[in-house]
Amino acid sequence: MAKKLSKESFSRILRQLHSESLPYEPPIYPPEAAWEKIGKRSIVYKAWKKAAKLKGQIDIYIHIPFCKTICNFCGLSSGKLISPAGLDKYLDALNLEAGMYASSIFPRKITGIRIGGGTPSLFSAAQIRRLFGIVYKHFELEKNSRALSQGGIVFEANPEFLTLPKLKALKENNVNWIIMGVQSLDDNVIRLANRVQKAAHVKRAYENARKVGIKNIACDIMYGLNGQTEESFMGDIRTLASWRPNAVIVFGFTPTSRTSFSRHGGIITHERWRAIAATVKKGLRALESIGYNNVDDAEDYWRVLGGPEETNYTYTYDEKDDEGDWHSVLGLGAGALSVAYKNLRYQNTCALSDYMTKLKHGHLPVDRGATLTNEINMINYMVLSFVNCGGVSDKEFKREFGLSLKTKFKAKLEDLTSRGIIKHEKGRYTVNANRERVIFEISFAFFEDSVVERLRSKFNIK
Ligand SMILES: C[S@@+](CC[C@H](N)C(=O)[O-])C[C@H]1O[C@@H](n2cnc3c(N)ncnc32)[C@H](O)[C@@H]1O
Ligand code: SF4
Repeated sequence: MAKKLSKESFSRILRQLHSESLPYEPPIYPPEAAWEKIGKRSIVYKAWKKAAKLKGQIDIYIHIPFCKTICNFCGLSSGKLISPAGLDKYLDALNLEAGMYASSIFPRKITGIRIGGGTPSLFSAAQIRRLFGIVYKHFELEKNSRALSQGGIVFEANPEFLTLPKLKALKENNVNWIIMGVQSLDDNVIRLANRVQKAAHVKRAYENARKVGIKNIACDIMYGLNGQTEESFMGDIRTLASWRPNAVIVFGFTPTSRTSFSRHGGIITHERWRAIAATVKKGLRALESIGYNNVDDAEDYWRVLGGPEETNYTYTYDEKDDEGDWHSVLGLGAGALSVAYKNLRYQNTCALSDYMTKLKHGHLPVDRGATLTNEINMINYMVLSFVNCGGVSDKEFKREFGLSLKTKFKAKLEDLTSRGIIKHEKGRYTVNANRERVIFEISFAFFEDSVVERLRSKFNIK
C-alpha cells in the first residue's frame, strides 16, 4: 500500500498517468512513467530466453510511426511522414532489428503478427511484400496457430492509402484482419480533424478488401470530434453496419496530453465528456440491436463489437489467449513496446534517428523498461484483473502463481472488501464500485512505495 502519500497526492499521480493514455490501453504495472533506462542488451535477451520457455503465445508487433498528416484528435505519438525512400530505409532498419532477435527467441515459433502505427498503409505494395518478407525470413509462424486459421495477422490501415495492389499484397501475405481507421464518414468532420481521407475512399477500400478476400475487416469509428453531431455519428454507425464489417470499434474522443487538441489548449468539460460517453453508448446499443454482439464487457467507455460472422478479434498486449495464458509481444520499430511475459516490459527508442543509428552500429534500439519480478507480476495481475476483467478468482491466481490469493494479499483484500470496493463470492473477488473508484482504490492498495516514489518525483508531486 502507498503509505507515504496522501490519497489526494496519489490521485494527482493517477490523473497525470491517465492524461497520457487512452482508455483502451491496459493499466499496466509498473506504469511506463516509472520505467528506467535499460543499459545492457543482455537484459533483453535473457528476458526473451526465459519468456520463450513459458506456455503463452509470442506475437510480433511492428510499429510504423509515420503519418501523412497528424490528426488533431490523435492520442498516439507518431512522427511525420518521411519520403518513400525513407520508408525503405526504415525497412532496412527493421530487418536489422528482427535479425538481432530471431536467434534469442528461437526455437519458439510466433503465433501472431500485427502491423500498426502510425500509418502502415503508406507502404507501397512492394514495400508491404518486403515487410512481410522480413518477418517471415526471421520468424517462423506456428502453422496451426489461430493466427492463420482465424485472425492473428493484423494490419492497421488508413483507407485513403489502401489501394487494390496493396490489398493484394496483404492477402498474399496471409493478412486476415484489416483494422480500418474510418473515424467518421462526414467529409467535413474528417477535414476539420486534419485528415485527408474522404468517405468515398473508405467505401472503395472496404469493397476492395472484400474483393481480394481479406477474411475480417474491423472499422474504427469515433464520436466527439470537431464538427460532428450525434445524428451524423449515428448515421455513420448505420451505414458502416450495413456493409457488415466483422467488427466495429467505437471510441469516444479522449483528449490525452499527446493530442494536438490538448496541446493547443483544447479542454473537454465533464458535461461534454459524459455527453460523449452517452452517445458512444447509444451507438453501441444501435449496433447490438442489429446483430452485433459486444465482445468486451469489462470496459465502460469503448467496446469492440463483433459482427455475426465475427472470428476472434484479439488485441495483442496484455490479453489472455484461448488457453487462458497471457501473450508475450515482441515490438519492433521506433517506439514499439515489448512484453517478454513475466520477465521484462520495455520500449524502443522513439526518436527515429536514434533508432536507425543504434541499429546501424549493431546496438539494440531499446530505451526504457521494467524488470518483471514475481511480486510485480502479481501486482500487475491484480490491477489488470480488477480494472479490465471485473475481478479475479482464487483458482485463477493459484494457476498463474502457485500461491493462494487470500494468503498473499490478505490485508489488502480484506480492507477493500470491508470498504465495499470489491466483494468475495464463490471463490471470486469481483468489483463492487464504479470504474473510476476501482482504478483509484486498487492502484492505491497495490502500487509499491518505490514505484509511487518514482512517479511522484517524475510528476513533481509533493
Ligand atoms: C492505433 S490508432 C491508429 C489509427 C490509424 N492510423 C488511422 O488513423 O486510421 C487506433 C484508433 O484509435 C482511435 N483514437 C486515436 N486517438 C484517439 C483519441 N484521442 N481518443 C479516442 N480514440 C482515439 C482512432 O479511432 C484510431 O483509429
Ligand atoms: S489517427 Fe492515425 S493517421 Fe491520424 S495521426 Fe494518429 S496514427 Fe496518424
